[in-house]
Amino acid sequence: MCGIVGYVGPRGSEAVLLGGLGRLEYRGYDSAGIAVLSNGLEARKRSGKLQELRDELVANPIHDGHTGIGHTRWATHGAPNDINAHPHLADDGKLALIHNGIIENYAELKAELLEQGTVFTSETDSEVAAHLVGRAFRETHNLTDALRVVVNRLEGAFTLLVLHADEPDVVVGARRNSPLVIGLGEGENFLGSDVAAFIEFTDKALAIGQDQIVTITRDNVAVIDFDGNSVTPEPFTVTWDASAATKGGWRSFMAKEISEEPAAVANTIIGRIKGERVDIDGIDAESLVSVDRIVILACGTAAYAGLVGKYAIEKWARVPVDVELSHEFRYREPVISDHTLIVSVSQSGETMDTLMAVKYAREIGARTLSICNTQGATIPRESDAVIYTHAGPEVAVASTKAFVAQVTALYLLGIAIGQANGKGDPAELAAAVRDLEATPTLLETVLQQGERIATMAKWMADTQAILLLGRHVGFPIALEGALKLKELSYIHAEGFAAGELKHGPIALIEPGQVVFVIVPSPRDPNSLHAKVVSNIQEIRARGARVIAIAEQGDAAVLPHADEVIPIPLASSFIEPLLAVVPLHLFSMELAAAKGLDVDQPRNLAKSVTVE
Ligand code: F6R
Repeated sequence: MCGIVGYVGPRGSEAVLLGGLGRLEYRGYDSAGIAVLSNGLEARKRSGKLQELRDELVANPIHDGHTGIGHTRWATHGAPNDINAHPHLADDGKLALIHNGIIENYAELKAELLEQGTVFTSETDSEVAAHLVGRAFRETHNLTDALRVVVNRLEGAFTLLVLHADEPDVVVGARRNSPLVIGLGEGENFLGSDVAAFIEFTDKALAIGQDQIVTITRDNVAVIDFDGNSVTPEPFTVTWDASAATKGGWRSFMAKEISEEPAAVANTIIGRIKGERVDIDGIDAESLVSVDRIVILACGTAAYAGLVGKYAIEKWARVPVDVELSHEFRYREPVISDHTLIVSVSQSGETMDTLMAVKYAREIGARTLSICNTQGATIPRESDAVIYTHAGPEVAVASTKAFVAQVTALYLLGIAIGQANGKGDPAELAAAVRDLEATPTLLETVLQQGERIATMAKWMADTQAILLLGRHVGFPIALEGALKLKELSYIHAEGFAAGELKHGPIALIEPGQVVFVIVPSPRDPNSLHAKVVSNIQEIRARGARVIAIAEQGDAAVLPHADEVIPIPLASSFIEPLLAVVPLHLFSMELAAAKGLDVDQPRNLAKSVTVE
């Protein structure tokens, strides 16, 4: 939420900032702004998408300089208009500040400033920080010291970047529970909410810890903690290049990212399978033996990946697994022991709800493992261990390829625990390993149905509500499909466990109601196939229009479905990875048929860094 970029170096900062904001726009797109130091400080900001700011800069050019900060906003305090857009100016227009997060005690700080005669122009919590830093700078005459004074008074979550006309060629940043990374160049340095901000210029990065302040100049990077002690930040190299964060000829990031689902699975497995065993870098088998319970913490799509993982881990490792929404876990008194493994699942690694839940879990004595797609992110840094999903950068706001990578990582974990604790059936675990290796090729086959699915979506552009049914691992896929439909096409969509149908949801079925049904294989060892086919008959008898996602050649489904989207033959745990692809494609195509922006749906932002 909110994208942040800072630059000091020889390049024109306007282009660097706009390029970085373009790559960060998925984090928020209510408004955007930049501030640049040349002969004094100049700022431009505009509500709406980044293009509005670009147009403003053409109409009303800035005197470009070599030091600047830029921001793309997802509104929390104050409407998404020009005034509330960042940067916020203070100290007679000499200081500019941008902020990601929420300053929880802003009201009392604002009251203090108002009493001293400060004039506010916006309704944001962020402007309070700008005036506080301005006031502190007048006393300290040093931007780093001024920011340090202020961050120690702030409560909540924040990444702040500031620059000041009286201290040219310097950008100072601070973070608490909100992301900020440093990009290291030759004679230039960068700050960003994530590495996408500067990936065009450097793949060398430094991760900044919690409650730390960074000061960048052209040739120097200095990090201190909020007490002023010097800190050595952790270096890392970004493993993808700028081209991975571009559309690369695709019509949308989402189209590109769905096409990358096979690679997301393949890259998550790579190097982690040795013969028939799973060997995950950085996770030693010994540490898995004593795990007697797993709690998966995640939100949204990541939580649905967790639900798929639960079925597999319990089967393969014989360890009980609970899946809990991070924001619910944190505000009750969960029972955990030092043999409980908390597994957080997060694409961004920055979701505030999940981060806070992980911190809480650690405080109450659990071991924590992060499944994360973003290097240098906060959640893996706050966890005891990490399994990175190697899906590559996900730019479209709604998650697709990260989902299949998350399920894959959970499967690897389940197999690894089953092999370590000896409770899993060795032959079954070896088969699971082989099945995973074969999955990318099967996913490619499913993608070949893209055109047919696009045609179906066009016919259905006027559909107002869609129901989805699934059973066993098909149930979380129904939930994921429903979420994607809501997010992308703004229609009411609801996923149900097929077994629940008669317990209530069947009342929703009326003539013409579209229902997607994820049908288990007729070879399913639990014989759920027949039960789901019966469900299809029940809803069809009441006039539903059924679109079945079923195994290729499943003759029992054909007479009862209006459309069948076939998926290749696979084991029960690979089926959800295959069945989700048509739903991702359909959601995207339905949104496209309705003329909606599939990459940046309304009201959403990727990386939800506020509670
Ligand atoms: C849905 C979606 C969200 C995220 C959720 C968690 O398409 O993208 O539901 O899955 O906000 O985000 P991460 O995985 O970054 O923690």
